[in-house]
Formats: sequence, C-alpha cells, structure tokens
Amino acid sequence: MITLSEIYKSFPGKKEMALSDISFSIGKGEAIALVGENGAGKTTLIRILSLILKPDKGFFSFDNIKFSDNPDYIKNKTGTLFSGDGSLYDRLTAEENIKYYAQLNGVGKNDYRKRIGPLIEDMSLSAFINDRVSTFSRGMKQRTAIARALITNPDFLILDEPSTGLDIISGNSVKRIINRLKQDGKTILFSSHNTDEIFTCADRITVIHKGKINCDKTVEAYRTAHGQDLTVYIKE
Ligand SMILES: Nc1ncnc2c1ncn2[C@@H]1O[C@H](COP(=O)(O)OP(=O)(O)OP(=O)(O)O)[C@@H](O)[C@H]1O
Ligand SMILES: [Mg+2]
Repeated sequence: MITLSEIYKSFPGKKEMALSDISFSIGKGEAIALVGENGAGKTTLIRILSLILKPDKGFFSFDNIKFSDNPDYIKNKTGTLFSGDGSLYDRLTAEENIKYYAQLNGVGKNDYRKRIGPLIEDMSLSAFINDRVSTFSRGMKQRTAIARALITNPDFLILDEPSTGLDIISGNSVKRIINRLKQDGKTILFSSHNTDEIFTCADRITVIHKGKINCDKTVEAYRTAHGQDLTVYIKE
C-alpha cells in the first residue's frame, strides 16, 4: 500500500502551485489512473514518487515506511517509466540498457535470465533487442523503457503515459501487462490520456486539475456517474 499525504510542490518563478494538497492511497493489486490536461501536475507527482523531486510539504509512504525515513527501501521497490524517451542510453542496445539497469538495481543473473525472455516477448522486442537505441523509433524506445521498468519485478509501478507513442498491438500488450501485474498484487499508478487504457486497466480514476485533485472515484462509480467522459472534472 502506498499512501500520499498532503503533498505540495511549487517551482521557482511560478505563481501557481504545481501540486496542492495531494492525498490518496493505492492498495496492493490496485491501479490508479492519473488523468488531467497538459500541465495539470501528473508528471510532477510522478517525479516526486520516483524520488527525483522533493515535495515542498507532505509525505508519502510505502508499506508504512516514509520516503524521507528510508528512501532506499522505496527506491528498491519501485519501477518507473518516465514520460518521453530520453532516459535510455542511445549508444547501448535495447538489451544492454535493460541489463545495465538490472545490474544497477541488484537483479541477480538467474532472475535476469528468467525475466528477460518473457519481457522481450511481452513488449515484442526481439526484432531489435540487439540494435542501438539511437536507431529506434519513439515506440521502440517506449517498449524498451517499459521492459526496463519491469526487469526488477517492482512491487510499486509508476508509469507516465505508458501507451503514448505505441502502436495498437503494443498498446494492447501494455493493457494486458498492467492487468496481469494487478493480479500479481502489484501497486500501480499510471498517467494516461487514453480513455480505453484508463477504463480497461484502472480501478480508480484520479483527476488532477491545476495541481489539485478534482475527482477520486472508483471506475465503476465514475462510469455510473459520467460514462466514459473524462472531461467532466477538467474544468474550473
Ligand atoms: N522543472 C520545472 N520548472 C518549472 N515549472 C515546472 C517544472 N516542471 C513542471 N513545471 C510546471 O508544473 C506544472 C505541471 O507540469 P507537469 O509536467 O507535471 O504536467 P503534466 O500533468 O504531466 O502534463 P502533460 O499531460 O503535458 O504531461 C506545469 O505548469 C509546468 O509548467
Ligand atoms: Mg506529463
């Protein structure tokens, strides 16, 4: 279980808070979809949960351990897919990127061998697994980055727009993977602009608007109230 409590974040030179009073929790086996317009604060929250940014105020904890008390505990349990494709090493191949990340995060050789095959299969990487990332399309980079986020078998998964840039087949694979990871008891937070992905994978929909939570409902409650219209809470 991850719990976020009254998280605030501002950036120098900006009048508006990037995030205000963000509180919610995500249980084991649960996926939350973070929804909101461009600039709403989704990536900022994801960067805080990935320990890249410090909040001005507030805390979050995983298994009741506060990030500020034991950042390494949370780091070791978390796998993050960052938005965009800038986080891979261009001069390494897809597999070298995944292996390097696995080694940095203490994945043993046996575990690596067990996990890499299914991930190559899931994300359809085999055609370019030994090619340099510098030659990849955006979607190929995204698929490689998703495999890299999963190689540590993390308990808490943070995915910033996992389906952005993916073709239809890979987008379907991501939906399948998220649902499988939920069944495995993982705790998942993903941001998305994709209605189908949100309603297929999320248990709860959390709408952030101008840095504040405007809505936090189960998917069933949301659907009953508004159908699949995700614009309802993206208003003043
Ligand atoms: N490093 C930074 N310095 C200053 N302002 C920033 C910085 N990072 C983000 N912001 C601001 O914080 C706000 C939230 O941005 P964020 O990237 O979290 O939005 P988002 O919800 O992820 O949007 P998108 O859907 O476009 O990815 C925006 O107003 C943005 O300009
Ligand atoms: Mg973003």
